[in-house]
Amino acid sequence: MTSKETRQKFLDFFEEKNHRIVASAPMVVKDDPTLMFTNAGMNQFKDIFLGNRVSKDLRIADTQKCLRVSGKHNDLEEVGVDTYHHTMFEMLGNWSFGDYFKKEAIDWAWELLVDVYGLNPERLYATVFEGDNSDKLDADTEAEELWQQYLPTERILRANKKDNFWEMGDQGPCGPCSEIHVDLRSDADRASKPGRDLVNADHPQVVEIWNLVFIQFNRKASGLLEGLPAKHVDTGMGFERLCMALQGKTSNYDTDVFSPLISKISDLSGVSYTASDNQTDVAIRVISDHIRAIAFAISDGQIPSNSGAGYVIKRILRRGIRYGYSFLGFKEGFMHKLIPTLAAQMGDAFPELKKQQELITRVIQEEE
Ligand code: GLY
Repeated sequence: MTSKETRQKFLDFFEEKNHRIVASAPMVVKDDPTLMFTNAGMNQFKDIFLGNRVSKDLRIADTQKCLRVSGKHNDLEEVGVDTYHHTMFEMLGNWSFGDYFKKEAIDWAWELLVDVYGLNPERLYATVFEGDNSDKLDADTEAEELWQQYLPTERILRANKKDNFWEMGDQGPCGPCSEIHVDLRSDADRASKPGRDLVNADHPQVVEIWNLVFIQFNRKASGLLEGLPAKHVDTGMGFERLCMALQGKTSNYDTDVFSPLISKISDLSGVSYTASDNQTDVAIRVISDHIRAIAFAISDGQIPSNSGAGYVIKRILRRGIRYGYSFLGFKEGFMHKLIPTLAAQMGDAFPELKKQQELITRVIQEEE
């Protein structure tokens, strides 16, 4: 299944379940002092969760452009070195604002992954919150029981606050979560070591694909949790990882999300990509990742600069350039030449890329 079909199937599925499909919010955040960039699909709904704004829709779904390069969620150092973290990524999400809760969130996640996308249920694991004494929270036995309809108990794992209590930042909406992990290893590897031993263990082929968050609290500046007036659902599925699973690959970079960019970088540099850990392959992965972050940030109005969010973008751009010059033999600007490939590939889902293609190219070229 192509990435385009995968994205569309997600949106169609939730539209059929009476969700309104909305556009991604900008990746650059201008009106929240606790956040520089959108780090999760739920950011644009923060005020609804907190009860400060009423949504006219009780159910929403979308694909959200996210950037995790600063603050509580920062994956920058993993990018390119591993095969499944990114600076910019798409997060597929469905939300309930005081409407459905754990049962529907879990039932629909299973239905979509297994019945619609056709993932092998034998390869799926669910994690649930084990509780936490410091926050006076009990284990999430409700989610655990709901998963028992679909999974044998040995594939439902309890995990601690770090993995199974999701928080947007140091303050803000939060709650226990239940993650779905997929084991993409070969049958022989799966037979020799159970996947449950590799869940949440940084294994590149046993990865989290979907996080179902049950938002019930607001973390105050004091660190204390305050109950919210209503209970909400906030889910986030890693689009690139889902594509990896559905395309039978073991690296996000081997999917059609990245392969056009990787081919273009190889063409421009004359260095072929061999999907290994050597420096040229890491450089190609870094550049194919970073160009997406930079292009989307510029199209959302964030020009590289010497302070704040602009400086973060400038550093990502310089990191990409440095990898190109150091390991791929580039001697002049090359990142801007990737923009037509990116716009052709993602411009239908994100029209801002096509509309602003010229500006994005010019800004990057000037920096280079
Ligand atoms: N808000 C859910 C997630 O980012 O995982």
